[in-house]
Amino acid sequence: MAIEGVSTEPAAVVTGAGHGIGLATAHALAAAGYRVVAVDRDLGALVKADLPEGSVLVEHDIADVEADALAGLDAGLRIEALVNNVGVMDGRSFLELPVADAARVLHTNIVGSWAVTRTVVDHMLARQVRGSIVFNLSLHASRVRMCPDYSMSKAALAMFVQELAMELGPAGIRVNSVSPGAIDTGHGPSEDADGHRARSAALVALGRVGEPDDVAKVVAWLCSEQAGYVTGTDIRVDGGLFHYNWLHHLYGSAATERDRTS
Ligand SMILES: NC(=O)c1ccc[n+]([C@@H]2O[C@H](COP(=O)([O-])OP(=O)(O)OC[C@H]3O[C@@H](n4cnc5c(N)ncnc54)[C@H](O)[C@@H]3O)[C@@H](O)[C@H]2O)c1
Repeated sequence: MAIEGVSTEPAAVVTGAGHGIGLATAHALAAAGYRVVAVDRDLGALVKADLPEGSVLVEHDIADVEADALAGLDAGLRIEALVNNVGVMDGRSFLELPVADAARVLHTNIVGSWAVTRTVVDHMLARQVRGSIVFNLSLHASRVRMCPDYSMSKAALAMFVQELAMELGPAGIRVNSVSPGAIDTGHGPSEDADGHRARSAALVALGRVGEPDDVAKVVAWLCSEQAGYVTGTDIRVDGGLFHYNWLHHLYGSAATERDRTS
């Protein structure tokens, strides 16, 4: 793990900062005045990514829970925010997925996030920092994804957020989560990407797929003093996608028909 460029400014650790929502979050937190500690297992992605100037790059796989994610970080660095953004998914269903591969996902998402959180919380408590921790969950913490490794890991983290909020509240450390809906981080299907995007957008009340920045802005707000009395809460950032359900399927066209005839 290589760590460079430490400082005494307020800092924010973002896991999975090399791409997508993590990268956008790094920018939102830098704009809010934090020195970003950008953690990613892919050092190449960190180096290539257009991270905020002065970011501290940390090559670390959160699944490696024996390694200290902040080892070697300057003692003067004051971490005031942690964004547990990493969340992996195998992509196969229960019947397709060998147990060992399911265990790898659960280990990374749940135990890996636990380990990073423990390291940062120890740092905050030692310095009496009244910090903020935000987990990046998913609508699939409570809605079926047909990828149970992923959805059950998000559900477990949703409970972890509530446990931590209660345990760390007395120390002034707030713990919350965001649950993004469909966010375009460039991982859609390579074939008919525009069609896929349009079909996804049609399910969203606000009529568009989300951008990483839509999520990053809410994460930055949760880290800010504006959210100083908010803990143990999840904020959906989904343009209303959560509320799409079977009734739209049954009656959506009927409503359109009514509109046409009235
Ligand atoms: N994109 C979406 O539509 C969406 C929707 C809901 C929730 N989310 C959640 O948002 C988070 C980020 O998703 P994204 O789409 O921006 O991802 P992404 O694939 O665009 O970027 C993920 C980054 O995390 C890094 N990473 C992966 N595993 C790691 C590990 N074990 N240790 C350290 N770094 C690791 C990758 O190298 C990459 O740079 C995830 O938790 C995901 O579940 C995404």
